[in-house]
Amino acid sequence: MSAERLPWIAEDPASLRLLELAQKVAAAPTTLLISGESGTGKDHLARLVHELGPRRDAPFLKIDCASLPPNLVESELFGHELGAFTGAVERKLGRLELGGTGTIVLDEVAALTPGAQGKLLRVLQERSFERLGGTETLHIEARIVALTNVDLSAAVASGNFREDLYFRLNVLALRVPPLRDRRADILPLADHLLVTVRSIHSHPGSHLSEAARRMLGTYTWPGNVRELRNALERAVVFSGSDTLEPADFPDNIRAAAAGAAGSTAGLRSLEEIEREVIAATLEATRYRIGRAAQALGISRKTLLEKRKKYGLK
Ligand SMILES: Nc1ncnc2c1ncn2[C@@H]1O[C@H](COP(=O)(O)OP(=O)(O)OP(=O)(O)O)[C@@H](O)[C@H]1O
Ligand SMILES: [Mg+2]
Repeated sequence: MSAERLPWIAEDPASLRLLELAQKVAAAPTTLLISGESGTGKDHLARLVHELGPRRDAPFLKIDCASLPPNLVESELFGHELGAFTGAVERKLGRLELGGTGTIVLDEVAALTPGAQGKLLRVLQERSFERLGGTETLHIEARIVALTNVDLSAAVASGNFREDLYFRLNVLALRVPPLRDRRADILPLADHLLVTVRSIHSHPGSHLSEAARRMLGTYTWPGNVRELRNALERAVVFSGSDTLEPADFPDNIRAAAAGAAGSTAGLRSLEEIEREVIAATLEATRYRIGRAAQALGISRKTLLEKRKKYGLK
């Protein structure tokens, strides 16, 4: 499986399910819609679907519908002929043409203008289009994968997105759950992202302390995987040592995790309780090991080991 090329970290049952679905939809030529909050891994999943399927050796092209000016989105998508508009000084091939038999990702598809939505609908229905200003009809073989972090059905309801286009896009749909709904992924993702981040910053020894792991595992990650990656990057850059501690992470993460830990206030670990009981017994027996061990129901050897472990006198 070519997933080795693109690591998809999935420990939580929710992500394992998503991976299974991704494997199924990868083989289909059908248009795919991937939704999910910002930073959940929609781009990453689109790439995975491409690599898992028969198109893996063909181009994987992306258009960011939100950050390009509307007229540029259309020209990027469809291409244009010389003189199609002011500034069109030569013919330009669009992604639909350049994508060949590969995958074309439309990022933030909800940002398309009504005009572009209409043209895209025609592409999906007829698998054909013309360059801007052109008359030649071209055929598209690439698979379209649309990404959205807004709820497209709500955009349809509010009149901002064409319903017919929504239905065309929504034939196969995958939803990437927010990180807070797949908590078992947090630490494996942190370990995975840390490997990348520390090699980018040439800090090969950077690793998370136990306290930092607990904190990362407790936080709710509203910015999802991207926020986790940014937090790790910042910690690697700012930490003065190889061990990343909670103090190396942004205040909001520390504060939120401390608040969450507060909800378990009053709960104590078995080790804390054991330490206390041993300390009290030692004191009560005036530090006579034999008697203390007898009272605790453990051997002298075990008591001595625990005394050392807990740093008791
Ligand atoms: N399951 C995963 N395994 C490994 N890395 C992941 C995974 N999911 C996300 N990432 C990484 O997290 C970062 C954010 O993911 P991505 O850019 O795909 O999110 P997005 O949903 O497209 O975000 P946005 O809505 O902001 O565009 C990327 O660096 C990506 O490689
Ligand atoms: Mg993205």
